[in-house]
Amino acid sequence: MSDNAKLEFKGEVYELPVITGTENEKAIDITKLRAQSGLITIDNGFMNTGSCQSKVTFLNGEKGILRYRGYPIEQLAEKSDFVETSYLLYNGELPTKAQREAFYADITKHAKLPEGVKNILNQFPADAHPMGVVSATVSALSGFYPEFLGPEATDEVKERAIAQLMAQVKIIMANFYRKTVGKDPIESNPALGYSKDFLNMMFDGEVDDDVAKALDTLLILHADHEQNCSASTVRVVGSSHANIFASISAGIDALWGQLHGGANQAVLEMLEEIKADGGDYEKFIAKAKDKNDPFRLMGFGHRVYKNFDPRAKIIKVACDTILEKLNVQDPLLDIAKGLEEVALKDEYFVQRNLYPNVDFYSGIIYKALGIPTNMFTAMFVLGRLPGWLSQWKELREDGTAKIARPRQVYTGETERNYKDISER
Ligand code: CMC
Repeated sequence: MSDNAKLEFKGEVYELPVITGTENEKAIDITKLRAQSGLITIDNGFMNTGSCQSKVTFLNGEKGILRYRGYPIEQLAEKSDFVETSYLLYNGELPTKAQREAFYADITKHAKLPEGVKNILNQFPADAHPMGVVSATVSALSGFYPEFLGPEATDEVKERAIAQLMAQVKIIMANFYRKTVGKDPIESNPALGYSKDFLNMMFDGEVDDDVAKALDTLLILHADHEQNCSASTVRVVGSSHANIFASISAGIDALWGQLHGGANQAVLEMLEEIKADGGDYEKFIAKAKDKNDPFRLMGFGHRVYKNFDPRAKIIKVACDTILEKLNVQDPLLDIAKGLEEVALKDEYFVQRNLYPNVDFYSGIIYKALGIPTNMFTAMFVLGRLPGWLSQWKELREDGTAKIARPRQVYTGETERNYKDISER
């Protein structure tokens, strides 16, 4: 029996090849469909559309599986660190000791911002949203590194892109934060280690090892998530051979929305709202279920996870540990746990497979670390950078990759004649 799929339309049968991934996922290849039949497919929100073949991240939403380059997220969160995980995502293999050291030395080499970038950062008002600031500043980097502008993603560019962006984005974030609190920036000190250096640049003080470890774990959990909205954006922009800064800046913008990375800020604001309202979370569950009310339970639900989000499981435990360590009693955590408990038993959420996602508890940890609420999504950026860069690199190394250019089904007016303004 042929492995092809068959599509029958108006008496014609079209054979469409089926391709199979290494985890036995199957996809109908419709590359030649339009040429053969004149038909296109339409798929709102790309719910059934694979945009590429990728070796970076495997995700099985039904079983709650997430693996980077084959390694389960649970093992990486427990045993790896963010720098090593970033290397893994970008290069495909865990580094040897020497490779890890060389990679971190590269990051260290770029741990400075050009003066012009510092000036740009200083021009933003202190109440500017950090996501706009980070996106604009990353885009501005293209003006300072013209060697990245060529259409060819040379090996030199690829080698440098990840080290430079991992080094500089965290400085951009910390410098801007310092400005918002009226303090001078603190130089990066990579000798502290990636996450500790970031916390030191933010808060200028002794950073506890467990606190730095908690942040590192959060960054690992956010590091990649296959073809999500922002990674797809990076690939779409990268597919036109736009430069790396433009591609990453576009990914940052895509992440900003509340349905994607912006959910972590929205969760905390929701929990604050529930607290201010007296803490009656049942009332907010009812609002979320009410189809006439636009309110959604932020941090709940996911396009692909329909069982549980494995990242949320790890974060929930990390949240308890870090709050205990820092001796923080946060009433928002009780509200979050209460919401989760009620929602998980509620028929509406059960029927729709709505579970807490990665953003549900991460904000409570960021808050405990002293990170302001409007910076939570930028923290997601810091974590997701290696994922976006790995997706970009894979795309640019794929000799068969084409410019992303979907089609449409036009539903507007058919041809009509122009009328002079006096006749309208
Ligand atoms: N609260 C209440 N109802 C919900 C929620 C929610 N958070 N999420 C989904 N639903 C309902 C939705 O109304 C729909 O109901 P019905 O079938 O009766 O019309 C059903 O569940 C399916 O929802 P959908 O919007 O069609 O699902 P989607 O796959 O298009 O959207 C989602 C996924 C994540 C955008 C959505 O679940 C959501 O808006 N969640 C809240 C925002 C959020 O937490 N986003 C972060 C996602 S995780 C971080 C990341 O990787 O981006």
